[in-house]
Amino acid sequence: MTTEPARPVPSSSAGASRRVQLDEESGTVMLRTDRGAYVLRVDRAAGTVRHVHWGASLPLADAVSLPLWSENDNSFAGRWDGTEEYPVDGGARFAAPALEVRFADGSSPVEPTVQDVVLLEGDHVAVLLRDCTRPLAWHLHYRVPPDGDVLERWTEFVHTGAPQDGDVLLVRYASAHWPLPQRADWRLSAVHGGWSAEGHLERSALPVGETTLGSRRGHTGHHANPWIALDPQDTGEEHGDVWVVALASSGSWRITAQRTAAGRTGVLAGEGHEGAELRLRPGGRHRTAVSLAVHSSHGFGGASRSFHRHLRAHVLPHPQELRPVLYNSWEATWFEVSEDNQIALARRAAAVGAELFVLDDGWFRGREDDRSGLGDWTPHPKRFPRGLRPLSDEVHRLGMAFGLWVEPEMVNADSDLYRAHPAWVLHLPDRTATELRHQMVLDFSRPEVTDWALGWLRRLVTENAVDFLKWDFNRSFTEAGTHAGGPDARRVHVDHARGLYRVLDQLRAEFPQLRIEACAGGGGRVDAGILSRTDQVWTSDNTDAVDRLRIQHGFSQLYPARVMSAWVTDSPNPLTGRTVPLRFRFHSAMAGVLGIGGDLTRWTDAELAEAAELVQVYKDIRAVVQRGEQFRLLPPGNGPLTAVQYVDEDRTVVLIWRPSTAYGPPEPPLRLRGLEAEARYRDEDTGREWSGATLMAFGIPLPDLPPGDCASALIRLRRGW
Ligand code: GLA
Repeated sequence: MTTEPARPVPSSSAGASRRVQLDEESGTVMLRTDRGAYVLRVDRAAGTVRHVHWGASLPLADAVSLPLWSENDNSFAGRWDGTEEYPVDGGARFAAPALEVRFADGSSPVEPTVQDVVLLEGDHVAVLLRDCTRPLAWHLHYRVPPDGDVLERWTEFVHTGAPQDGDVLLVRYASAHWPLPQRADWRLSAVHGGWSAEGHLERSALPVGETTLGSRRGHTGHHANPWIALDPQDTGEEHGDVWVVALASSGSWRITAQRTAAGRTGVLAGEGHEGAELRLRPGGRHRTAVSLAVHSSHGFGGASRSFHRHLRAHVLPHPQELRPVLYNSWEATWFEVSEDNQIALARRAAAVGAELFVLDDGWFRGREDDRSGLGDWTPHPKRFPRGLRPLSDEVHRLGMAFGLWVEPEMVNADSDLYRAHPAWVLHLPDRTATELRHQMVLDFSRPEVTDWALGWLRRLVTENAVDFLKWDFNRSFTEAGTHAGGPDARRVHVDHARGLYRVLDQLRAEFPQLRIEACAGGGGRVDAGILSRTDQVWTSDNTDAVDRLRIQHGFSQLYPARVMSAWVTDSPNPLTGRTVPLRFRFHSAMAGVLGIGGDLTRWTDAELAEAAELVQVYKDIRAVVQRGEQFRLLPPGNGPLTAVQYVDEDRTVVLIWRPSTAYGPPEPPLRLRGLEAEARYRDEDTGREWSGATLMAFGIPLPDLPPGDCASALIRLRRGW
């Protein structure tokens, strides 16, 4: 006995919208972005949804009759492998599925039927599918945001049965499968890395088979980031086709590029690694994370700019805001914080032009070092005997906003919280609870744990007039099974992040002025899911200005400068020991959201004066960096120079770095991008003038860089003088 799944509410104007068109007769659905199209065909007879086209725009009249691809017909072929919008495990399908289940009787084959295609408000269409006899329905959602080239997809599962049908275990539950057009060869681009080495961009040929990136760590991870780009081997930074798929998820995840021997390629994107299964009880639902995708015919740079625009306009909670210049005390005082040393830093930070002062780790009870205290979120009685309010008041009096570091999802064994609630951590009673950085993970899938977190966060923010939280997460999951156990005990790899989202959503609703920086030991939780609830991310614990160029290059592939927090810290750098001039350190950090993280009490007057001047320069260019279109002119590692350009309305900013020098011929002029050929551009610092055509075709003569390693320059151009 099964019941019908709840139907999404149809839009009043069923038929066609500007960006979603449906041809009832052929079952063809066309999704139109600003510059492209995505076409699928609902095959009611076969009970599936076939992919037709993704790329440049086509007329609907052509799309309805485009032929569908099938593998050679033989008894070993997966006829549709690689061409279905949501392949299931069932029938003659042999490629990795988007949906795999275990029904209550232990069987797994799924046999889909199409129930309906529903046009919804907001350029949104849903294809409703269900198993022909078993109690499971799944709805494929497609949404075309009102502008830009990004497409959004997600899937909702519904257990349509009654208690006697038993549970359905979702073994694989991808957000989407994105089939690609047929090309002879494919190249895969992705970032990999580790702590303090995030975002290393790598491109390699895509082999036949399954290539999977992912995280089994319970958080997004430093080691890979949830996106993948595929191009037909001949795409460049500013030319050629590329297809990019990303996942807006902050827990464990999996993205698989699958190239079949028969010549089809597609990308599966979804939450949860293998074995992280979800149980649906009768009447239960599960909605996946959103997968975002873009096709660009303007190269990798074009795809990045599409994502940047989308994230800025439709994902970030406060897209119009410019991020303030921040000061963070971590590398100045480490755990040795006190009211006095923070006030001394705050005064200097205000004097150089910081607008937000953030007190980092070490401020709470029991936090002598990283062995104790996490969980006990009241001020350290010796370090802040008067509490945090006097510091907060002084920071506000200095004209800055007040920010505080927190790590709500973690606990040290040496804490009152752990002594009171040892069962709140991810653990299995007969396994060793692995400690990493001497801490354990609190299970945020449990409401009693998230309620506790909300309770103290509310108090902390209210009592101390906190304007900004740096929300950290400093270890990966181990022994992760839900306290309730059961066949889907590992769902905490998905549910923890959802608990986190609920806390963030609630906190933001209660404190609309509060701004949040996401951090996970640097860039361990950077994704479009967390970005829909935070305002910026801490890019990396590596603050070496040279290393950062590579990390920032990888970061920029998907994420805009507007969220990329970057600090100027001391030299030599505490992590790498490299000595870097102050100007270069600033120029490196000015490529994102500028912050300062050095010990300002040890900076000389000359350094403080130079810092103040450079902060002023950043404030002058920040709208261009934070709102502009980004062009990666010269990637790091391909020659002596690396450069990025930002264009916002009539202003253009170029940052140029030469990390290490080498004797050789002079570098050619730097060819700029994204300008108006006919317009005149004036260098705001030198007064020289060129046409946009000259700057793009011939290039701008390189400014004189100081001799030696770590030289840098900044160019500001204004149009129409
Ligand atoms: C993490 C963060 C750092 C700092 C420390 C504090 O490593 O990434 O910026 O806040 O924690 O313990």
